[in-house]
Amino acid sequence: NSIYLRGLGDVLPALPTDTTRLEGLAEGVLSARAFGYVAGAAGSEATARANRAAFDKWRIVPRMLRDVADRDLSVDVLGTAMPSPILLAPVGVQSIFHPDGELAVARAAAATGLTMVLSTAASYSMEDVASAGGDGSRWYQLYWPKDRDLAVSFLERAKAAGYTTLVVTLDTFTLAWRPRDLDRAYLPFLRGIGVANYFSDPVFQRAVGGPVTAANRDAALLHWVATFGDPSLTWDDLAFLREHWDGPIALKGIQHPDDARRAVHAGMDGVIVSNHGGRQVDGAIASLDALPGVAEAVGGQATVLFDSGIRTGADVVKALALGARAVLVGRPYVYGLALGGEAGVQHVLRCVQADLELTMALSGVSRPDQLSPENLAIT
Ligand code: FNR
Repeated sequence: NSIYLRGLGDVLPALPTDTTRLEGLAEGVLSARAFGYVAGAAGSEATARANRAAFDKWRIVPRMLRDVADRDLSVDVLGTAMPSPILLAPVGVQSIFHPDGELAVARAAAATGLTMVLSTAASYSMEDVASAGGDGSRWYQLYWPKDRDLAVSFLERAKAAGYTTLVVTLDTFTLAWRPRDLDRAYLPFLRGIGVANYFSDPVFQRAVGGPVTAANRDAALLHWVATFGDPSLTWDDLAFLREHWDGPIALKGIQHPDDARRAVHAGMDGVIVSNHGGRQVDGAIASLDALPGVAEAVGGQATVLFDSGIRTGADVVKALALGARAVLVGRPYVYGLALGGEAGVQHVLRCVQADLELTMALSGVSRPDQLSPENLAIT
């Protein structure tokens, strides 16, 4: 409503309300390296394109005269109360896009009441991001490092800083073949930005011989790369996480129904159907195409979340109708961050939420849990 009313007073929003236009605008304010890092994907970027194309296969079938005067988008997701079924996906090293990086995003999330999922690879420490977010709800995303002591340290710090749910990203134990980054030398690019969430960690510091300064910064970056992920992990290792984290755990990167079943078997509380925005396996199926099978396999036994390709309210409706309890948005809010810092992120979050509310209501739906495959038709 606020966007319509502002328009009535001839005050136009500073950024376009069509969030699909933000990528083009962000390209104008970011360096080629920063833009390539966020907009890019793995290989030929076929999966990133497929992620978007999959939404076009489904169409919403609006229903009439269903009394949608009273609308409520709120949901409870793994014990967190949310005003709408939208979370901010974990995105690493956000200082690349704006000097305030994750701090600005945490403030925007808190202002809108939405939950931020903070990346392990944050350019600010998780404690600083937690203070910026204040009373806002926050989840922590773990890149499970080779060094188990470092993993435990991350979990203990996250618990102490008020992160309630753990998201474990399984699809990125190493960065993928990403030509846009490889062509522009991504790692040296990070030298000036750093990954403060690692650099501030006592276990990490011990491994690099003390606090990270200009003198050992390159060595710290190399150690970061060396310990970043553990390709040897198997389903049996999840018991280790259960031992060290007493809150809900969701596995991010699930695409196969059998993997979803294994997650339930391993005592996980949720799965996030995601292909990392097409940034890991080029040629992989669209994430939306994986959603119905996963939802059918574990619906009821674990909370199913979805990401990769969400841009509009209609996209959210389709993902919820196909079995997701909530969705995560990635690149769009990063473009908002690049274009307008905290205000830019807020703008994107408000637009997607408002678009969702209108699209749901006009489709005859007043609450997210009313959505089912019956609201969709395949074209
Ligand atoms: C990501 N993503 C990601 N995921 C994660 O678990 N930890 C991370 O640190 C990052 N970092 C990251 C950086 C950038 C620049 C992007 C674009 C993405 C993946 C992210 O959480 C999410 O899965 C995708 O972004 C969802 O796809 P869309 O919404 O960008 O299409």
